[in-house]
Amino acid sequence: MARLGVETLEALNKKSVSMAYSIDDLDWARPIDRSKRWSPDGIAPLTHLPSYARLGPEHRLRYNQLFAVGVCEQFVWFEQHLLVPVLQRLLAEQPDMPPLLREALEHFVIEEHKHSEMFWRMCEKAEPAMYPAREFELFNVSGPQGLALNFLLARPRTFLLWIWAAIFFEERTVDYCRQYRRAEKAAPGELDASFVELHEFHFKDEARHYQLDQHLLTWLYDPEPMWKRRLAARMFKVLMRSYVSPRRTSRRILEVLGAEFPDLKAAAIPALLAELPLLRTSRSFHQAAFSRDAVGKTMELFAEYPEHDGLWELFVLEGKHGPREVPV
Ligand SMILES: [Fe+2]
Ligand SMILES: [Fe+2]
Repeated sequence: MARLGVETLEALNKKSVSMAYSIDDLDWARPIDRSKRWSPDGIAPLTHLPSYARLGPEHRLRYNQLFAVGVCEQFVWFEQHLLVPVLQRLLAEQPDMPPLLREALEHFVIEEHKHSEMFWRMCEKAEPAMYPAREFELFNVSGPQGLALNFLLARPRTFLLWIWAAIFFEERTVDYCRQYRRAEKAAPGELDASFVELHEFHFKDEARHYQLDQHLLTWLYDPEPMWKRRLAARMFKVLMRSYVSPRRTSRRILEVLGAEFPDLKAAAIPALLAELPLLRTSRSFHQAAFSRDAVGKTMELFAEYPEHDGLWELFVLEGKHGPREVPV
């Protein structure tokens, strides 16, 4: 079934070749500007909490920078530890895969490897002291979560939640790039140029990946029996719940902020930590991250699949049939 607005695999494969860029097309020699923000503010969760107002300009700037670096780590984790292993397994274990889809997934894997290299390099360039080795310093999943996820990802034809994770996170990635573009257009030069460039290059591939995810939905998910689809949706809901109430990375970033600004440890940081559960119902945070404006296509897909009917209760602003009129 052709999906609205999704190009054919043939067209996507051609673009993978014609639009290919190298990591050295980015200007790695340009120094990072520490006096500037590295990310648009609205996408950073703590900016939506009441006690964010307690932070002074220098604290806010530093939080913004740490958040931007945390996002780089999150992209590496998602692309390198979740998506690439699944795609490589599918390529190895599905000899009957249609050749055009195989070609598309091969491009996909190469591009995600390139992105991980770009994001690690940016972490090292922005925070050399924090990254003596390429290890996650800000983004993290718990030990049990990591083990469970590895078990599931090793069986991608049984546990199909990864397809929904790919759809949601890749549209979030595309939206993230769009927010950089918007911020740059509204106030040129206000964000650090290297981060703007990084996300601009990432966008070149991700807009295409997002379409490819929908081909995967058609080829690999739609023909599966309802029990597998329900299981995938239930597992995906567990994953989504932790994104609707982000805690672990935010806590870690506050820890780093506290080490750099010990005066925040007495009141501002404990207050922000105590307020983290408010994100679950923050309308402005949901507007930035879980609304039809931010991830409209994904919301449309959730609504199309009845196994996701239980997901809507996580969203403050959106319901299956459109934006909620009465807040939950
Ligand atoms: Fe990517
Ligand atoms: Fe991608």
